[in-house]
Amino acid sequence: MITLAVYTHRSSDDSQHRPASRWEQVSKTARSIASHCFSAIKAPFRWGGVRRVQVTTTIRENGSDPKLSKSASDFMKAEGFQFGRPLGRGKFSKVYCVTKDNKAYAFKELIPKKMEEKWREVEGERGEYLGFQLRGNSNLLHIVGFVIMENGNYRYVTEEQECLSGGVVMGVLSEFVPNARTLKEFMDKNSLTEKEIQTIGRWVGEGLAAMHKRGIYHRDIKPENLLVDTKNLKVGKIIDNGFARQKIGSSQPNTRCGALAFMAPEVMNKTGHTEKADAWSFGVLLYEMRYGKLPFTNPEKEVPKFIAKKRKIKTKENTAFKELINKLICAESERLTVEEALKHRFFTGKAA
Ligand SMILES: Nc1ncnc2c1ncn2[C@@H]1O[C@H](COP(=O)(O)OP(=O)(O)O)[C@@H](O)[C@H]1O
Ligand SMILES: [Mg+2]
Repeated sequence: MITLAVYTHRSSDDSQHRPASRWEQVSKTARSIASHCFSAIKAPFRWGGVRRVQVTTTIRENGSDPKLSKSASDFMKAEGFQFGRPLGRGKFSKVYCVTKDNKAYAFKELIPKKMEEKWREVEGERGEYLGFQLRGNSNLLHIVGFVIMENGNYRYVTEEQECLSGGVVMGVLSEFVPNARTLKEFMDKNSLTEKEIQTIGRWVGEGLAAMHKRGIYHRDIKPENLLVDTKNLKVGKIIDNGFARQKIGSSQPNTRCGALAFMAPEVMNKTGHTEKADAWSFGVLLYEMRYGKLPFTNPEKEVPKFIAKKRKIKTKENTAFKELINKLICAESERLTVEEALKHRFFTGKAA
């Protein structure tokens, strides 16, 4: 076991947050692990101020990745939560049904190794926390609390203020949604009618519009991140704020994140994006619901050409639906916002 003291300078401006030069008497091996740890914990340093952070880690014999001694699930078990059936798996997590005091919840355990990769990818952005700001909207998964890892210890928090001292989200406790399946699972078994596409499209759009009103972009809209009540398609939740980002000031985020098949061109080419990145993904989602396939088979090659040549999505039909997806799957400057899309005649049924 080795304890490394890392002094950091924090700044609300991302470009300025960096470790100070003070690395104390650490061997070459420890130094590389320290930098590894730092990349894993740099997420806390986004709120400004100067603080000292201690990282405690175990060096394994082969000197490979450090591991936390217990998982966020072990922590929750010790807090009295009983773990039931697995509900799903994501790129970064395992999700279980858990109960406490006869109440059911979903618990998402983030896998430390996967998170380290993700933080490197998205420069330590901490989308899950934004769930606290999004409570109270029936189209967004209600977040009950987070398990946070701070100074090598876990703690459970239920309010945003409790996270202000820093920490990394390692577990998310949320409402349990009865009869829920991901839209992906649902679409694999059922083809959707136009009415059903409107029904599902409406709650997805309303959930996104609510996020956008708060300056939050989801940035990972895809069928795996949508839970639908299979007994009542009018009920559904947008889940997984892992890549969500809140607009701060006038600067535009430019992290390339989310699933390639749903990724807006401006996210793909890192030129800076707005909430309209979600509108592109929304268009792709509507297309997939209608045709059971994606509009681009090789997005990295096809999307830049599609935009440069001002192409249109071709479909055999000439309907309100075709018009709408072409107003979403298009250059950012011509794209509707999600809020505007919900006012389109495809959703309202009114003539243009
Ligand atoms: N509240 C929930 N109820 C039921 N299943 C869930 C819930 N939250 C997540 N899942 C399932 O777990 C999967 C992974 O969750 P997600 O939040 O998307 O994690 P990741 O960030 O790893 O993608 C989802 O695709 C879904 O199948
Ligand atoms: Mg997901």
